[in-house]
Amino acid sequence: MKLSKRISEIPPSGTFKVLALSKKLEREGKEIIHLDVGEPDFDTPEHIKEAAKDALARGMTKYTPSAGMFELREAIAKSFTERNIPTSPEEVLVTPGAKHAIFCAMITVLDPGDEVLIPSPCWTYDGIARVAGVKPTFIKTSKEDGFRLRADDVAEKITSRARMLVLNSPNNPTGAVLEKEDLVGLLDLAVDHDLWILADEIYDRFVYEGRHVSVISFPQVRERTVYINGFSKTYAMTGWRLGYSIAPNEITEKMIKVQQATTTCPPPFVQIAGVAALKGSQECVEKMLREYSKRRELIVRGLNSIDGIRCAKPAGAFYAFPNIEELGIGSSEFCERLLNDAGVATVPGSAFGPHGEGHVRFSYANSEKNIERALERMKESIEHWG
Ligand SMILES: Cc1ncc(COP(=O)(O)O)c(C=O)c1O
Repeated sequence: MKLSKRISEIPPSGTFKVLALSKKLEREGKEIIHLDVGEPDFDTPEHIKEAAKDALARGMTKYTPSAGMFELREAIAKSFTERNIPTSPEEVLVTPGAKHAIFCAMITVLDPGDEVLIPSPCWTYDGIARVAGVKPTFIKTSKEDGFRLRADDVAEKITSRARMLVLNSPNNPTGAVLEKEDLVGLLDLAVDHDLWILADEIYDRFVYEGRHVSVISFPQVRERTVYINGFSKTYAMTGWRLGYSIAPNEITEKMIKVQQATTTCPPPFVQIAGVAALKGSQECVEKMLREYSKRRELIVRGLNSIDGIRCAKPAGAFYAFPNIEELGIGSSEFCERLLNDAGVATVPGSAFGPHGEGHVRFSYANSEKNIERALERMKESIEHWG
């Protein structure tokens, strides 16, 4: 039977090979230290879990409105208004994970054949774009420049079909955080070329250097911005599937139609957990930030002490993205060797768009003890490659 053209265009997951190998090794009884997964090792804070349990006990097990429960939309809007970013609940769409919010945004504002500009190395925006029938155009950011995204580089890639610019800050996998001066140039460019902006700031609470400046704080681009965030990273809730978008009312209304036609709504008890996360003490987030900060120092120092590996300090998120070119092997081979020889799972840079090769992503959302063990094992193993 014939399959759709679209499905053949969706890129295979670049992490598949390493993931399959690590599963095989684990089945054989080998202990693997996971620095591959992009999720916090912390448990979801207790008060958030309690709120969900209580909601279940109260029988909150039915559909909610497709836009999400008003209580949660209101709590999200309030959390921005309190930061001097006036936001109304009607601008908020609650989705089962930020990824789905990105999909809803692309389906709503782009047509098949339109182009979306994606800074690369990048997270899987290209996969989502392909599902939406949209063509990704990659813009190279490089290690020499701290993976900063420059307006001039974006301008060079703008064609008559370009309709959306993705801004992901802090960035997965590079950890780069957009500085205000870069951001202003990029936003001007979006206005000049009439581009939608997809601002994915899911790691905004994990910034170690400088201050995070949000795209949504610039009123001049608010009408063309779909802002994305969620609970997965901030509150260690990856498996709960809860994210959201903020966009002008009329765009949110259209995005709701996509949610109605696909997932209907996130589970009500999960949404209640989201309300508890936002209204409760934020000390749990501060605590995670302090832990990540220590781990960041540890992993960057450790990686730089290994011959052939060079690692800049990531300004945000929880990934180190060192360069491994001096070792003279590709990133996939590096990850396979590391997994086989040292039992350390990482993700090849080649999984992060066309400009990720030469690098490897190490997630430091793992304990200091495990990071130390992984570094020791790596050091010993890599010394014997040759
Ligand atoms: C940059 C970025 N955006 C969005 C997501 C998706 O998050 P969610 O779990 O809310 O779908 C991730 C998850 O890894 C991510 O790294």
